[in-house]
Amino acid sequence: MKVLVIGSGGREHALCWKLRESPSVEKVYAIPGSDGMQDVASSVPVASQEDILDFARLMQVDLTVAGPETVLAEGLGDRFREAGLPFFGPSQAAARIEGSKGFAKELMKKYHIPTAAYETFTSEEDAVAYVKAQTKYPLVIKADGLAAGKGVVIAQDEAEALEAVRDMMEGKSFGAAGTTVVIEEFMEGEEASVLSFCDGTTIVPMISSQDHKRIHDGDEGPNTGGMGAYAPAPVMTVDLMKTVQETILQPACDAMRAEGYPFVGCLYAGLMITSEGPKVVEFNCRFGDPETEVVLPMLDGDLAEIMMHCVNGTLSPEDVHWKDGYAVDVVLASEGYPAGHTDGDAICGIEDAQRAGCHIFHAGTKKKSGAFVTAGGRVLNVVARGATLREARDKAYEGVSHIQWRGMQYRRDIAAKGLKHLESQK
Ligand code: AMP
Ligand code: GLY
Repeated sequence: MKVLVIGSGGREHALCWKLRESPSVEKVYAIPGSDGMQDVASSVPVASQEDILDFARLMQVDLTVAGPETVLAEGLGDRFREAGLPFFGPSQAAARIEGSKGFAKELMKKYHIPTAAYETFTSEEDAVAYVKAQTKYPLVIKADGLAAGKGVVIAQDEAEALEAVRDMMEGKSFGAAGTTVVIEEFMEGEEASVLSFCDGTTIVPMISSQDHKRIHDGDEGPNTGGMGAYAPAPVMTVDLMKTVQETILQPACDAMRAEGYPFVGCLYAGLMITSEGPKVVEFNCRFGDPETEVVLPMLDGDLAEIMMHCVNGTLSPEDVHWKDGYAVDVVLASEGYPAGHTDGDAICGIEDAQRAGCHIFHAGTKKKSGAFVTAGGRVLNVVARGATLREARDKAYEGVSHIQWRGMQYRRDIAAKGLKHLESQK
C-alpha cells in the first residue's frame, strides 16, 4: 500500500512512523511533511486541496490519512470520497463535532451523552445577562469555532466572565470563531483522553491517555498545545473504559449516523472523570497531539489495515490489539513558548536520545546545513516505552537528558499523576 499523511507535526510524524511499520505499507508520503520525518516519509510540498487530490491520484495512493482538523473542516474528506479515493477522516459535516462547540453540545444533549450543562449565545447582551444571573464559579466561557485550543476561559468570578464574553463577542480575540459563545458549568475532576477508531457504525476505543496542557509543572501557567502525555492512563480503569464506550463513544457514533453524517476516522473524546462518572469536555474529529505519540507506539498490529477497515466499514474490535506496559512522551519546547517561540537554535543530542531507546517525533524542527534547528513552539517529542509507567517515564527523561538547545523548556512532572494513581491502587 502507498499511504499519504496530511500534516507536519509530532502527531503526523508518529502516524507516518507507525504506518511505515505496517507490513502492508511500502511507501509513506506526507503533505507538507517536515525535515524531521524524512526517516519514515517523503515530504511533498503542495498546499491546495486540488493539488493534494491530484497527487493522490497521480501516485495511486491507496490510503490518505488526515492529521489536523483544519483540512477536515474544509471538506478534504468529502473531495477524496467524491473522487473514489480511500480517506481516513470524517466528512465536513461530521467534522463539526470539533469545529463547532455549540453543534457538539446540541448533539450530546439530544442523545443524552454526559457533558457539562451549557447555554449557547449569539447576542452579547443575552450572554452578559446570563453571566450576571450566575452565582456558581468558576464558569467556563468558550468561543464556538476552531480557536486552536485557546478559545476557552475558566472565569473565577463575574468580572473575568464578563471580560471573556466581551473579548470573544466583540471579535477582538478569536475573529469569526467567537461570534457565538458557549457558557458552561465547570466540571471538577481529572482529565483523560480516549481516541477511537470508527467506521461509521462500529467504534473501537484505543488505550486511554492523558495530556499535560499547561506549560509549567503542577498544571500551572498558560495552556499550550500539550507538553507531554502517557498511555494508558491509570485514572481510566477497566470499568470506566466500559462506561465511556457505552455512554459516550457508541452513542456518539450512533448519533452521527442517525443524523446522516456517519463518522469515519479517529474520534477523540476529551473527558473529565467527575464524581458522577466520565463526562465529555470536548470531541475532536482527529488524532490528539501529543496523545498520538504515546498511543501509537503501544498499538500491536498493522495501523494501515485498521484504517482500511474504518474506510471500508468493516471494523471489528478483534482488529485492534495493544502491547503490555506504558508509553511516556516528554515534549521539548522552545524559548518563549507558548506566548511566542524562538526559531533557529541548534539542537544537539537527538541521536544520543535515540541510542538511549527513545523515539523522537519532530514537532517543530528544520534542517539547516545538515543539522536540526528549532522551528516552532513545540519542537520535539521524546517518547519511551516501559514495562511499568515508572520505567517508561525514567527512560523518556533519560532521553531528554541527552538533548539540548538554547532556551529549551519542558515539564519535569509528566506522568506524575498516573504514578500517583498506581501508588494509591496498590
Ligand atoms: P476545550 O477546548 O473545550 O477542550 O477546553 C480546553 C480545556 O479547558 C480543557 O482541556 C479543560 O481543561 C478546560 N475545560 C473546558 N471545559 C471545561 C469544563 N466545563 N469544566 C472544567 N474544565 C473545562
Ligand atoms: N491534546 C489535545 C488535542 O489534541 O486537542
